[in-house]
Amino acid sequence: MSTENKLVAVMGAYGHTAKFVLTQLSELGFTPIPVGRDRERLLALGLDQPPRVADVDDPDSLDRAFAGVAAVVNCAGPFIDTAVPVAEAAIRACAHYVDVAAEQAVTLDLLARFDEPARRAGVAVVPAMAFYGGLGDLLATAAAADWTEADDVQVAIALDSWLPTVGSRRTGARNAGNHVVYVDGRFVPPPSVRSTLNWKFPDPIGEQQLTEMSSADQVTIAHHLRTPRITVHISTGALADIKDPATPPPVPVDELGRSAQTFQVDVVVSRGGEQRRASASGRDIYGVSGPLAAGAVARLLGAAVTPVGAVTAGELFDAREFLRSLEPVHLSRPIGR
Ligand SMILES: NC(=O)c1ccc[n+]([C@@H]2O[C@H](COP(=O)([O-])OP(=O)(O)OC[C@H]3O[C@@H](n4cnc5c(N)ncnc54)[C@H](OP(=O)(O)O)[C@@H]3O)[C@@H](O)[C@H]2O)c1
Repeated sequence: MSTENKLVAVMGAYGHTAKFVLTQLSELGFTPIPVGRDRERLLALGLDQPPRVADVDDPDSLDRAFAGVAAVVNCAGPFIDTAVPVAEAAIRACAHYVDVAAEQAVTLDLLARFDEPARRAGVAVVPAMAFYGGLGDLLATAAAADWTEADDVQVAIALDSWLPTVGSRRTGARNAGNHVVYVDGRFVPPPSVRSTLNWKFPDPIGEQQLTEMSSADQVTIAHHLRTPRITVHISTGALADIKDPATPPPVPVDELGRSAQTFQVDVVVSRGGEQRRASASGRDIYGVSGPLAAGAVARLLGAAVTPVGAVTAGELFDAREFLRSLEPVHLSRPIGR
């Protein structure tokens, strides 16, 4: 069911990732309303819609901020502090909720906690609709195609560097000890020593050493693809970047405000000795999160899906269509290899 209401509230609107979301929402014909706790920084964005000031600890302020909107995109992280009150307020406003969380515990919590309330309100709650959580889920779903179960899902991420934003650093610190891995069909604490492997990416990346990581992808994929094992590995060098307190934040270098960082994500879904693959490459993991989140809003408010409940990208959307829609500006070679 499509809606004529084009108003979309963006919580945490002056953050780094939110700016990509705002741009992409406008590109897709929506009217973003900037929401956050600092009026001056909201005004400085210079958007057409007047800002709405709201604090996650003040439900009335969130209700005022989300009045009349069709969807809310939550970009205010760490989401451990914001996701529940913002999702609750979105549901009270009968607006769809989308966030860009990379946090496993938060994503698990939202999927469990908000399915029934979202169904009652006739809206969708879509967490982790970003590089981590969203892209891997879309790729795994595209690769799996008509398989609804698999023996194993492997996500391999090549990053040439990872220059983290302030929000990423804060989020890492707030979520210390909250990480899990997905083994034997269950989420369990990670091993004390993370596994490494060598993965052959297409040229020009070639073979890279990767280290196992806990990612929102394990949560989003496990929510709808029946499989006992989902592993995520990422360039060992990129993990070293974010662990180093001296690594600087990203610097915009192109007309879209993206950094020079490049990514390649390979997903391999295995069943009975057969392997199916899907891959995507692009630039700037923060930058690509804008079209992923805005694309989710466009599909939620369009006619293509009837969205209700707490769901993930791969579960709700046509993964191949979504990935192709991001070519060529935001993704390259999204399907197959
Ligand atoms: N899944 C992914 O792939 C992915 C991709 C990109 C970003 N992210 C996540 O998105 C979050 C934001 O990242 P970023 O790079 O945009 O960081 P950022 O530039 O530091 O922006 C964070 C934004 O959130 C707001 N905020 C934080 N805590 C808040 C609170 N308690 N109440 C209200 N507003 C709050 C900040 O406002 P104030 O300055 O007023 O605090 C700011 O607007 C992080 O958690 C990051 O991990 C995930």
